[in-house]
Amino acid sequence: MELSKVMHTRRSVREYINKPVEQEKLREVISAAQLAPSWKNSQVSRYYVVTGEEKLAEVKNALSPYNQKNMADAPALIVTAIVLNRSGYEKDGTPTNELGNGWGFYDCGLQSMNLLLKATELGLSTLVMGIRDNEKIKKILGIPETEAVVSVIGVGYSNAEPAMPKRKEIDDIAKFF
Ligand SMILES: Cc1cc2nc3c(=O)[nH]c(=O)nc-3n(C[C@H](O)[C@H](O)[C@H](O)COP(=O)(O)O)c2cc1C
Repeated sequence: MELSKVMHTRRSVREYINKPVEQEKLREVISAAQLAPSWKNSQVSRYYVVTGEEKLAEVKNALSPYNQKNMADAPALIVTAIVLNRSGYEKDGTPTNELGNGWGFYDCGLQSMNLLLKATELGLSTLVMGIRDNEKIKKILGIPETEAVVSVIGVGYSNAEPAMPKRKEIDDIAKFF
């Protein structure tokens, strides 16, 4: 699918059909994520892919009530995380500038976008969720203290056709000099 078509087609989907996502496709979306640029190629983004019935229920339970409803039939969740204190940092452990770990989160966002677009190309739908209990998720998945949980991305086959929420005008968000 042409890139601009993929970008226009991708939507946040909050209703899924009860059908598993092929393991191969889950690997493909992470592989696409990994093509994104990162600070000094530090590649600090990490993915915890949850499809097993028991863990899936536990991670869903760590989402906000609204997101639990959104994910009711979602067959896969990808928890994104970053390794802290590397991207945006010097070798001696000092932050290179005022954003510190902000750069690791930036890298993770770039990778996530690749993931979402690849998923769209493969006929999958997604929902990025920021409203989640990170401590619960860390415990459930054994995520070390050296990492920060970022988002939980629901992945599956859509059971809805949401319209695109309105975008701001270019002149409201950009200044040209
Ligand atoms: C960082 C981030 C966090 C988000 N968190 C949630 C969330 O917790 N629950 C939810 O339903 N949607 C969440 N969304 C989805 C946005 O509401 C959605 O992307 C936005 O309304 C634009 O719609 P679109 O993705 O279909 O273009 C999140 C999106 C991003 C990028």
